[in-house]
Amino acid sequence: MTTAVEHTLLNVDFCGVKFINPFILASAPPTTTGEMIMRAFDEGWGGAIIKTLVPEGEVVRNVAPRLASLPYGKQRMAVLENVELTTDRGVKVWLKEIGQIKRRHPRRVVIGSIMAAGPAKKDWQELTRRVQDAGADMIECNLGCPHGMPERGMGSVCSQDAEITKHITQWVKDVARVPVIIKLTPNITDIKVTARAAQAGGADAISAINTVAGLAGVDLDTLVPLPSVKGLSTYGGLSGPGVKPIALRAVCEIFKSTNCLISGIGGIGTWRDAAEFILLGSTTVQVCTAVMHWGYRIIHDLCDGLSNYMEEHSFASIADMVGLAARKITMHESLSREYRLVSAIDRDLCIGCGLCHVACRDSAYQAIEWDPKRREPSVDEEACVGCGLCSHVCPVDGCVALKESKVPLKKKR
Ligand SMILES: Cc1cc2nc3c(=O)[nH]c(=O)nc-3n(C[C@H](O)[C@H](O)[C@H](O)COP(=O)(O)O)c2cc1C
Repeated sequence: MTTAVEHTLLNVDFCGVKFINPFILASAPPTTTGEMIMRAFDEGWGGAIIKTLVPEGEVVRNVAPRLASLPYGKQRMAVLENVELTTDRGVKVWLKEIGQIKRRHPRRVVIGSIMAAGPAKKDWQELTRRVQDAGADMIECNLGCPHGMPERGMGSVCSQDAEITKHITQWVKDVARVPVIIKLTPNITDIKVTARAAQAGGADAISAINTVAGLAGVDLDTLVPLPSVKGLSTYGGLSGPGVKPIALRAVCEIFKSTNCLISGIGGIGTWRDAAEFILLGSTTVQVCTAVMHWGYRIIHDLCDGLSNYMEEHSFASIADMVGLAARKITMHESLSREYRLVSAIDRDLCIGCGLCHVACRDSAYQAIEWDPKRREPSVDEEACVGCGLCSHVCPVDGCVALKESKVPLKKKR
């Protein structure tokens, strides 16, 4: 019997490498050791990217604490900030463990993540050779870490410069016998530029995004920004649900501007998130923060949910889904101006909170009138521009919707 994680619908070819499912553990705390990766594979993950390796001699000393998080509603880690560095385990230890993982899980994909300084051709090539010789199926070049490493000329400074991105890709491709993925930073004005540079350097695939540069907050009692490392802090990298829209846009832009395959990352925690990333152009998807929150076992829900969705929509393979939604992104100028929508309030569901009226009065076109005695909103269709704000502020699911209307807009101010 095939388990959900081995559902044949989920099998996917990524740069000629076969994955039993498109779900990959991103290079991060869930891939801190070989033992952890093997446990994740036992649970059903299709691939894993080892925590980023740096050249021997680079001293990696982490700080504590190295995380800060922003809760939002019931979501404990709506955004996670980290100031963690690359792996603090030695290159030789990792090379041995890559071999062990492959021997125990020959059908799972092990990806070696590497990082060196922008001009350090020798380091890039040496790490590539050593990681592939150890048995890695693919190489991911981490050009995206926004904290700590840029101070040493590594990480995001490399993919904030198209020439550096192209050179590193070429150097790695010159010696690689396995497919090469270039992991980009979103901390740049136009990610299409560096994505095209990676393509020009010969990248087989692009992964996006690494973390978004940020600062989680300030402790108002001690006046120290978070995370406070004995009274001082530094800028970090943001991940988790809050960065998903930034990642989706990056994936879609890369899909539409290059021919490279894409591994999408950033805020993926459910099969729905994964499906969105695939529909916008990703062939595989990577997960970090959601696993840090819920553990490896989320792979079961990810696989069950995605395969059920594919069956319901008659998708025969992941490849059939890739980029279908990206085609529907167009220039603003090309969007219809003839589509007339107005707000419609379901009186049976309305709880009389008045939020739709207040939002429309103070931030839109004063199209929702309010009966204070009956605590009842009503829509003036001639004034409603169909912006949809009322449907977003309404706390009751399905109570306020937009409907097509033939009533002409008369009172627009
Ligand atoms: C604590 C932490 C450590 C990370 N370390 C690495 C790393 O060593 N190499 C790397 O390429 N990305 C690293 N990342 C970035 C993740 O791989 C991923 O790109 C990012 O977290 C967005 O995905 P998510 O929203 O699923 O977490 C790290 C992220 C976190 C939260």
